[in-house]
Amino acid sequence: MRVLSGVQPSGILHIGNYFGAIRQFIRLQEEHECYFFLADLHALTTVQDPERMQALSRDLAMSFLALGLDPSRSVLYRQSDLSEVTELAWYLSTVTSMGLLQRCHSFKDKVSQGAVPSHGLFAYPVLMAADILIVESKLVPVGKDQKQHLEVTRDIVSAFHSVYGDGVLTLPEALILDEVAVVPGLDGRKMSKSYGNTIDLFGPEKTIRKRLMSVVTDSTPVEEPKPKAGSSLYQLLKIFAPESERSAVEGWFDEGGTGYGEMKKRLFGFYMDTFGAARRRFDELTQDPTEVDRVLRVGVERARSAAGRLMDNVRRAVGVR
Ligand code: ADP
Ligand code: TRP
Repeated sequence: MRVLSGVQPSGILHIGNYFGAIRQFIRLQEEHECYFFLADLHALTTVQDPERMQALSRDLAMSFLALGLDPSRSVLYRQSDLSEVTELAWYLSTVTSMGLLQRCHSFKDKVSQGAVPSHGLFAYPVLMAADILIVESKLVPVGKDQKQHLEVTRDIVSAFHSVYGDGVLTLPEALILDEVAVVPGLDGRKMSKSYGNTIDLFGPEKTIRKRLMSVVTDSTPVEEPKPKAGSSLYQLLKIFAPESERSAVEGWFDEGGTGYGEMKKRLFGFYMDTFGAARRRFDELTQDPTEVDRVLRVGVERARSAAGRLMDNVRRAVGVR
């Protein structure tokens, strides 16, 4: 099955992004033909600083590779390198009704959080449909927040077919990753870059340690049992602790005698056990920037060749060639 997903380079990756999305994306490459891309054109709707955009794109590409995306199996490319995608987005936009886009929650949500209500932000779902349709992907793994965008993509497919005839575009399906728990942030709310409560995947060890030591806890004395309900520290320990340590973690909370400081140190150890190898790989990639460039160059060639047939068919269907 052909699988595609994109991630916006709009911030530094945190462990919520990993457990909630990227880990599942990367696992799919074991069984499917996968296309993953850096959605930099989408990110321009919020990041409008060219240097930051460059840096975030590069960081995201290195993160994918460090976390296990295997470029000999999967295709990794930068959206803006595949210029056909904006051409396809235009054809799609001519059959997309304003009403369909006006119903999208994410435009309203982002504007209410202070984003500029630009045409690009409004038309965001049409570009996303083009991303998905251009390589004729069948399965699109996304977080729950993107479910509506997949429905819009399917509606755009029917609108296109009702104007130009069936069979040109492939109807995709969402693979909604809702079985993954929401990773809590340092303050107990959902971990999110917009709350400033994140624990990053990469970056200096000292900073990670400091962040983990600052997980908010209550004032239960060391010798007493600790409440688990509503405890971010408990949730994080459960996410990170290996199978063999799970019952020990329960004991720290149920039996008392282990202080929060001690637990946070153990959490740091578990974090390093989980991400140590990926962090080393990330550092190696930083040393050799040409490696990422090479992967992206090969990736876009493969994506372009996958897009060729579809673009020919679409151009012929609409009558521009
Ligand atoms: P942020 O909330 O930090 O801006 P994004 O919206 O860019 O993160 O998230 C990209 C994807 O990462 C989401 O679709 C979701 O699947 C996943 N994700 C983000 N934060 C979390 C979290 N705290 N727990 C689980 N998954 C998350
Ligand atoms: N909108 C997605 C997000 O914010 C990113 C994205 C862009 C995407 N194009 C896509 C995801 C195509 C899946 C398929 O997370």
